[in-house]
Amino acid sequence: MAKLLHIQTSPRGGHSASQAVAEHFIDSYRRTHRSDIVEALNLWQSELPEFNGATLEAKYAVAHGLPHSPEQVHAWKGVARIADHFKSADRYLLSLPMWNFGIPYKLKHYIDLLVQPGLTFGFSPDGTRKGLITGKPMVIIYARGGAYGPGSGAEAADHQSPYLKQIFGFIGFTDFREIFVEPTLATPTSKEEAIAISNRKAAELAAHL
Ligand SMILES: Cc1cc2nc3c(=O)[nH]c(=O)nc-3n(C[C@H](O)[C@H](O)[C@H](O)COP(=O)(O)O)c2cc1C
Repeated sequence: MAKLLHIQTSPRGGHSASQAVAEHFIDSYRRTHRSDIVEALNLWQSELPEFNGATLEAKYAVAHGLPHSPEQVHAWKGVARIADHFKSADRYLLSLPMWNFGIPYKLKHYIDLLVQPGLTFGFSPDGTRKGLITGKPMVIIYARGGAYGPGSGAEAADHQSPYLKQIFGFIGFTDFREIFVEPTLATPTSKEEAIAISNRKAAELAAHL
């Protein structure tokens, strides 16, 4: 029995294109992986600790091999809770809108909490850095008002896909499956058209994950 963790990062609920395709993915996943668990993590409804003060200094203490102060021990527990919850999954589904060519700030906040020495990345005895979350696939569903795919002429403006593959690659991920729901704002019907095309890809991907 595997656990699929769906990280939801659009605040638009029933109006969200990324959420609509993610739900279609999950419907197909449930039909084809009947014994698996699907858990939702809505970042807009989650308590994400600020990453400053003792929490931030605790990260530097780990990086410098120094012990945590009592205040840092307490603060680090909040970060470890987020990393432990993330690591409890076997498979990941991340759905997000493009905001200002990049990712929504709630997702960046979550990533800044998640990517920590000793929790999601570490070092080999020879000092080489290594990601600690390995052998797990991540499906990423991107919704964009415009189009950024090959031949669009706007490929270089996509600061979502390269960044997410870099940062999740940093903590060990190598298996990324991507679906681009785009353009959603080009015409009055383009959102529904983009969702319909992406839904077919999502159903196929979910069945074979
Ligand atoms: C704050 C904000 C910034 C946005 N920035 C971009 C952008 O840089 N490029 C783009 O193509 N669309 C942009 N959009 C449009 C969304 O990416 C688009 O509506 C997408 O379908 C939203 O996904 P969702 O429905 O899952 O929330 C932006 C929307 C918002 C609210």
